[in-house]
Amino acid sequence: MTTNLATDSSVLQRSSSMPQRVDAIQSALDERGMHATEGVEELSHLALDEWVPRNGARVVARAWVDPAFRERLLANGREAVTELGIPIPKHHRHLVVLENTPTVQNVICCTLCSCTAFTIIGLPPDWYKDLEYRSRIVRQSRTVLREMGLDLPPDVEIRVWDTTADTRYLVLPVQPPHTIGWPEERLAAIVTRDAMIGVARL
Ligand SMILES: [Fe+2]
Repeated sequence: MTTNLATDSSVLQRSSSMPQRVDAIQSALDERGMHATEGVEELSHLALDEWVPRNGARVVARAWVDPAFRERLLANGREAVTELGIPIPKHHRHLVVLENTPTVQNVICCTLCSCTAFTIIGLPPDWYKDLEYRSRIVRQSRTVLREMGLDLPPDVEIRVWDTTADTRYLVLPVQPPHTIGWPEERLAAIVTRDAMIGVARL
């Protein structure tokens, strides 16, 4: 086994491009019965088709039209989201829903890495994982939001929440007044990933 791995490693070193290296590692794992290709295909499917912001948009729209659901969502996000058939991984032990108001803007980050409630709001965008965002959103939140296009009046309080491995967040945006009375499906269509992270308002 040691000899084989050494040979594989020298093959990898000769490969110039990242896709070639990935293919080589995948093949090496497949040959050893570790089903890497199957795993990659399954993960790609989940990331592209299942873990999408449309899930969170459904949650937000339901909260806007159904006050009882909204109450349950704010009390126990995990249980309420599960009611809608949206899966939450076991290790996301708590889903805390942060309610924005006209004078409070909640913002999510992960100062350590890239954690999000990804089955609900989708995989984190690249900027969310950048050290630039992770460090500055905490110390210079108003400036960073302005740089990202959200220029909040001084009377709006900004609350920054640092995600951990077992506590994930979802920002519940304020419903735009002109959408009051819209059907749930139409409301869901206006909810964006960035609004559920808290770097945008609707
Ligand atoms: Fe993280």
